[in-house]
Amino acid sequence: MPITIKSSREIELMKEAGRILEKVHNELAVALRPGMSTLDIDRLGEELIRSYGCIPSFLDYNGYPASICVSVNDEVVHGIPTADRILQEGDIVSLDAGVIYKGYHSDAARTYGIGEISAEAQKLIKVTRESFFEGIKYAKEGNHLFDISAAIGRYAEGYGYGVVRDLCGHGIGTNLHESPEIPNYVMNRKGVKLKAGMTLAIEPMINMGGYEVDWMDDDWTVVSRDHSLSAHYENTVLITESEPVLLTLSGPEPFEK
Ligand code: MF3
Ligand code: CO
Repeated sequence: MPITIKSSREIELMKEAGRILEKVHNELAVALRPGMSTLDIDRLGEELIRSYGCIPSFLDYNGYPASICVSVNDEVVHGIPTADRILQEGDIVSLDAGVIYKGYHSDAARTYGIGEISAEAQKLIKVTRESFFEGIKYAKEGNHLFDISAAIGRYAEGYGYGVVRDLCGHGIGTNLHESPEIPNYVMNRKGVKLKAGMTLAIEPMINMGGYEVDWMDDDWTVVSRDHSLSAHYENTVLITESEPVLLTLSGPEPFEK
């Protein structure tokens, strides 16, 4: 599939899809507390998405059974919400969500601590987020796609963390997953040249231990093979001739307020 360049009309729709998803994430973040089930998060997330007139893009995507991917501790991504998985003080939880607004997708993920978490867990979450910002320093017309990948991977590996290799970021638009694939590690080629109007979901997934992952028997939940903690951070990004525009992040995140 070729990489699509979005028109200004499409960009406006993607901006709105992004703004709505940012609100959903911020509202989920403040609702998180110990004692909540991962299904409670999914229910609230779906309700919020629909309240803004959007469709939850993950629901029924290749058979995925929920609207929000909720991944706890050693779960990397695609955790399936259930009533009996109860968040405990000290857990870290990654929330990944996508919405469709008038046919256009946005996709974003955040990792939060539940109550007090260890200093090591806080650092993992912080470095994962920072690795995204290292990557997007290169997200500009004329640079190459794998400049982003290398910056993310080098930054996270500099802390001794494992950068997940089996899952990647992706183009996004009228489909949740479009070309190109965006690895989070150093590639020995340059990748495509970035052009204004490309929209990319850039999403480092970082393990405190090794980079290897396994799929659970539910065929969805990805866990770190060594069961070390894992964090995820993702925004939908518009490439321009100058600075990238973060479609799913316009203001402070809840923990920054
Ligand atoms: N944000 C996820 C990704 O880009 C999408 C989850 S796929 C689903 O990989 F099926 F879980 F929805
Ligand atoms: Co994604």
